[in-house]
Parts: sequence; structure tokens; C-alpha cells
Amino acid sequence: MNNASLSERAPYNRTISVTQKEIEHYKKDLLKAGRKLSAKELDGKIILGNLFEALDYLPDNFIDLLFIDPPYNLSKKFNTASFKEMNPESYQQWIESWLEKMVRLLKPEASIYICGDWKSSSSIFNAGRKFFKVQNRITWEREKGRGAKKNWKNCTEDIWFFTMSSNYIFNIDEVKMKRKVLAPYRSEEGNPKDWQSEGEENYRITHPSNMWTDITVPFWSMPENTDHPTQKPEKLLAKLILASSNKGDFVFDPFMGSGSTLVTAKKLGRRFSGIDIDELYCIYAAKRLALAEEDKSIQGYDGKIFWERNTLSEQKKNNKNDKPKHQQVPYQGKIKQYKINFDDSDKTNL
Ligand SMILES: C[S@@+](CC[C@H](N)C(=O)[O-])C[C@H]1O[C@@H](n2cnc3c(N)ncnc32)[C@H](O)[C@@H]1O
Repeated sequence: MNNASLSERAPYNRTISVTQKEIEHYKKDLLKAGRKLSAKELDGKIILGNLFEALDYLPDNFIDLLFIDPPYNLSKKFNTASFKEMNPESYQQWIESWLEKMVRLLKPEASIYICGDWKSSSSIFNAGRKFFKVQNRITWEREKGRGAKKNWKNCTEDIWFFTMSSNYIFNIDEVKMKRKVLAPYRSEEGNPKDWQSEGEENYRITHPSNMWTDITVPFWSMPENTDHPTQKPEKLLAKLILASSNKGDFVFDPFMGSGSTLVTAKKLGRRFSGIDIDELYCIYAAKRLALAEEDKSIQGYDGKIFWERNTLSEQKKNNKNDKPKHQQVPYQGKIKQYKINFDDSDKTNL
């Protein structure tokens, strides 16, 4: 567990970190690659190990939804592992080297999402189309990232959507958005056109597009935050999981990191498993899964509808009697905790 160091957090910092005792505790439950595993054995478990060593031991046809957030095509350190930027052709070959092994694991009606930045995107598209049907590309506008002096600041990521066949699940009613209406038009009879009033505000429930502007990168004041440098938000995973799987389906993440996919799948009643090569990240994921036993809330999603960014006060008004627990978790005091040393402003794949 290199690079981990003891540190203290500021009282308002809600980042999840782990004590030495917790590391020892959660370590016992991690699976190791190297023997055949059934879907039943995998369910709810984390595999600590190298994806290339683990894949051959996984069962046929068990995944309903595959979410993949690989290292992007840039030089970056992930605690103990690091990735080196390569030319787009080599990056595509690298993707294909594990993606082709994953086809065997997928059910015939499975969906596959693969994340990347603008530099990685064409390689992902070209690799994915060799094995799957291309359905769409979601562009996620995320606020964080450094400004560039001689280029446009990058603030988007792509999420490619593939399926195994034309027969796939898409639960549109599960992923509708609640948006404030700025121009509340009425019919000739004076009735609201496709919106409704709630208190002083007017809202419209809309179909989601492939441009996502309502999701924030996890940061230190959010209870889902860890020190993983490229952690994906639970709200983003919730949309994909709700749209592309049903309760009880199996969700798998081969580059699991801090476990956002597994935690969100658990909160939404899916079966799940994932792999990461780094022990500390697996421990973060295990701790988050334990916390999800008590707290099933997902910031920005009230169990029915996805809210726009920066609407916490309106969500609170809407949920007066049903306050999400993530707003109630008290700070646990100044305790010695393990964290990785890096700057939170770097919380992006770029
Ligand atoms: C982009 S991050 C995933 C972040 C994750 N989506 C989250 O929400 O925290 C990629 C992860 O892949 C892991 N990784 C890199 N190479 C790997 C390999 N060969 N096998 C398994 N995991 C690997 C890294 O440790 C890192 O945590």
C-alpha cells in the first residue's frame, strides 16, 4: 500500500478515508484472481488484482451491464499503478486486448459503457465497434480540470454506449430529469403546457439527452468522495444503471477504482462485482459498500427523478420529511486516517 500516509482532515472535509484497523478488516473479504469463480461467488465481492490475470477465471454470460472506466490515454499515476500515454493506435490495441476477453462474460442482451476523454475517444469507438453495436456517445460536462494557457480548457468526457445486440434494456422512465422552467407557457385555456408548479417554482420532467450537464465531480464536501484521483460520481452511475439494467441484474466494473459502480449498483438493488489492481482503492470500495448498508441515498437523485446541478436547497424543500442521509452524516472527529497525497483539484482523468 505505497504512497499512503497518515494525515488529518479539516472538520468540514467529508472525504472517506480508512484507518489501519479498517484496512486489515476489509482486506479479508477481497477475492484474489487465480481460481475459477462463479457468478454467485462474485456477487457483492471485489477482486484485488490485475484485470489481465482475472478475466480468464470469470464465468461465461453473467454480465447484464458492463461499465468500464479505464486509464485514459495520458500519463497518470493511480497510487501504485501508473499508465503511460501512447499513440492512438497502440491505445486502441491495448483496449482490444482486454475488451475481446470480456465478450465471453456478457449476456446476449447486455449493455456496455466505456469512458474516455477526447484523446481516448476515437480509440474507444474503433475498438468497441469491432465487438458491439454502437448506440450512442454521451458527453458529460464536468466542471473540474485545469485551465490551459495555450489551448481550450477541457471540461468534457465521453461515455460510449454499446450493446451486444439490438435487443437491449432501456428504461427511459427511470432516468427522467427535473428541470426548472424559465418560460412557463400555457395553453389557450390557461393550463400549464408540460410543466407543473411546486411552491414558487415551475418544473418540467424531461427525457434525458446525450449531453449531461447536471453532474458534479465528487469533491471534499461530498460524502461519497475518496482520495481516488478519477472517481466517477454516483449520480452518473445511477443514470446508466437505472437506464440499462433491472433490479437483480449483474453489473460489472473491471477498472473499479474507488468502487462507485459497485456502490451505486448496491444502492439500486443490482448484483455487482469489480476488479482493481490497487489494494487501497479496493479497501475504499469495500468501506463504501459497508456504508451503503445504512445509507442508500445518491446525491442529486431522489429515488424518482434526477435533479439539475446546484439544486440542493430545492431538493431539501421537496423532501422535507424524507431528508437524504448524506446530508445528515456527522463529521467523525479528528482521527488519524490513511490518505494518498495529491491535490483535489487534480480530480479528473486529465
Ligand atoms: C480511471 S480509474 C477508475 C475510477 C473509478 N471509475 C472510480 O469511480 O473510482 C482506473 C482504475 O483502473 C485501475 N487499474 C489500472 N490498471 C489495471 C489493471 N491492469 N487491472 C485492474 N485495474 C487496473 C487503477 O488502479 C484505477 O483505479
